[in-house]
Amino acid sequence: MAQWRAIEAIVRRIGASTDEQREWMTTRRQVLNSLTAGATWLAVQQTMSRCWLLGQSAQQAGQHPDEMTANSAVRQAGYPRPDFGTPPTALPKEALAVRGPNSLKAHASQHGILSGAAVVVRSLTDRALAELVVDQCAIIVPENELKWRGLRPSKESYDFTQADAFFAFAAKHGLKTRGHTLAWHNSVPDWLSAMPQSADVRAIFVDHIRTVMSRYKGRVHSWDVVNEAILPKDGMPGGMRNSFWYQRVGPDYLDLAYRTAREADPHAQLTYNDYGVEYDNADNEERRRCILTLLRGMQTRKVPLDAVGIQGHIKAASPFTIGKGLAVYIEAIRSMGLEVYVTELDVNEDDIVSDDISHRDRFVAQTYQDLLEVAFRSPAVKLVLTWGITDRGTWLNDGPTHHRKQPNRPQRCLPFDPEYRPTPAFFAMRESFNTHRAI
Ligand code: G3I
Repeated sequence: MAQWRAIEAIVRRIGASTDEQREWMTTRRQVLNSLTAGATWLAVQQTMSRCWLLGQSAQQAGQHPDEMTANSAVRQAGYPRPDFGTPPTALPKEALAVRGPNSLKAHASQHGILSGAAVVVRSLTDRALAELVVDQCAIIVPENELKWRGLRPSKESYDFTQADAFFAFAAKHGLKTRGHTLAWHNSVPDWLSAMPQSADVRAIFVDHIRTVMSRYKGRVHSWDVVNEAILPKDGMPGGMRNSFWYQRVGPDYLDLAYRTAREADPHAQLTYNDYGVEYDNADNEERRRCILTLLRGMQTRKVPLDAVGIQGHIKAASPFTIGKGLAVYIEAIRSMGLEVYVTELDVNEDDIVSDDISHRDRFVAQTYQDLLEVAFRSPAVKLVLTWGITDRGTWLNDGPTHHRKQPNRPQRCLPFDPEYRPTPAFFAMRESFNTHRAI
């Protein structure tokens, strides 16, 4: 109790701070540092919420970094990836113990869910990793290889080498596939963004969608046709992101993309995929509202659409809860006759100050469960993919935010650790498939 009062006192200090932004970050860390291993998750959440309320203005001032914009910066900054040494040459006994009927995919499928992960195609030459993917995944998605930057060295050419290897791997092992993605502001090749205003970008856009989708026609479970079209702070009508595609193809670029996509591969589930919809906070609420308005508009205009992706890049020790906002959002999508997919789940644990691995793993596992518990209340949720499968390859180690907050501490964010052993997150996911799924 005395300890909790001490935490409260630290939290309260923020109200009197002159340098609110810096103080806000420090205070969050102090709060987390003060937590004993025995603290309940609810107590942590409550304390963090109070902390957030007091530091709200700092949050709004943008001190709390947006991981989603971190990637373009990292391309320039080039932070080193952690050195994990040589990957295991064979799966450890802990991974062998959770294959077959004990795997994520087996437990998920018993409850009507397809589960899987994003893969980096080049990394599949690692035989233990490939074996793990086949053991655990019913469906895979290439992390980068189907994006414009992956496929289009120039206006005239396509390089399908890695994408073909992805589909060959999936076919060889009987795995379903997702396509990701045909329009994303963060994957516009330099030659394309440099095209003069007079260029017919609309024609290039349509040709790209037709060419890529036709090549893999009939082999893709679902395509993220457009990714991350909403960014209310850009101030465009409907909260649309003022992206390259919006500017150069036009505000109707989604309609054009989805109509072209349906023609190119009538079997693929056409998905709209976005982030920032998971939390009970004002920013996520606004994003959810804009996305739903976008989707309703598309339905009114009879634009083909089958599913909505919730990316699920979430954080351990977030000041916000995952609850009503997400549940209502999923139900709204369901009432439109669309399916819901969790497409890129991972848990960033940079805000946990303690270096103790078992402590961090527990928080991460609990955060997986928090999201899946809400998602599985709805039978509309049919698919769950994590963004990567082992901590060895996660994108979360790349961001400048990570390098500022935890430069020497690789993330423990996925269901398998860097030595390919299942983490508590693995067991939390499996438990969620079994206990929370509404059929
Ligand atoms: O492979 C090249 C390498 O040859 C080159 O030397 C190096 C120099 O920068 O870059 C390497 O490519 C990087 C690639 O990841 C593979 O590591 C790119 O710079 C880097 O931008 C790219 O980041 C990816 C990012 O999307 C941008 O495409 C991440 O791996 C990937 O996890 C991330 O995924 C996105 C989803 O598509 C959409 N939702 C958010 C999610 C996370 O940002």
